[in-house]
Amino acid sequence: MKRSVEDHAARFDAKASEYDDAKSEEYRACANLVIERADPGPEDVVLDLGTGTGAIALALAPDAARVVGRDISEGMMEEARAKAGERGLENVGFDYGTFRDPAYDGPVDVVTSNFAMHHLADDEKREAIEVIGALEPGRFVLGDVMFFGEPDPSAPFFDPSVDDPATVGLLADAFTDAGFSLTAVERVHDQVGVLVAERGPTGTADANDP
Ligand SMILES: C[S@@+](CC[C@H](N)C(=O)[O-])C[C@H]1O[C@@H](n2cnc3c(N)ncnc32)[C@H](O)[C@@H]1O
Repeated sequence: MKRSVEDHAARFDAKASEYDDAKSEEYRACANLVIERADPGPEDVVLDLGTGTGAIALALAPDAARVVGRDISEGMMEEARAKAGERGLENVGFDYGTFRDPAYDGPVDVVTSNFAMHHLADDEKREAIEVIGALEPGRFVLGDVMFFGEPDPSAPFFDPSVDDPATVGLLADAFTDAGFSLTAVERVHDQVGVLVAERGPTGTADANDP
């Protein structure tokens, strides 16, 4: 971890009111892919980690039974709650929770996370993916800054002082170790991508495996 959870929370609290204003084309493409790939059904519970101002949670709420948003920044979640109220969405809630401890132990069908896990060090990402696997979702859709090749140091997608993106290979291994099968790898940019990981109904990577 380059910064503590408290440091990240304070940083996002400070920029929460402007967070939605300027978003890159790549961020938007990534968020749209996460929303499309999450594809919850009307009975599904979605857990969105690092939910921020609710870009993913609020977009999925009309299609899901319930959306649980978790974040460490109260300022970001205040923005999300305000938008949920404006849109009349009553099946979405936002409360404190970390990747390490999402503070949610109910049933979950789909886990999403967009542009948030790169704040964790690689060993913490592995731990987070283990924690998510233990919740036994059918699907985990991760959109984030991630390296498809050697990162271009002049590219704008991460700030080395606060961000710690992983390689796609490390994330793929972590999914497999946590009992997921990686079913899609979508490259948005050589430093931005969406990974879709799924689990069989028995909690194994593929329930049809012999
Ligand atoms: C760049 S924002 C992304 C927000 C949102 N998912 C989106 O797509 O716009 C990253 C979010 O991750 C949250 N975050 C950072 N570290 C976290 C952690 N360890 N656990 C949970 N959330 C975290 C921050 O507070 C922030 O709201």
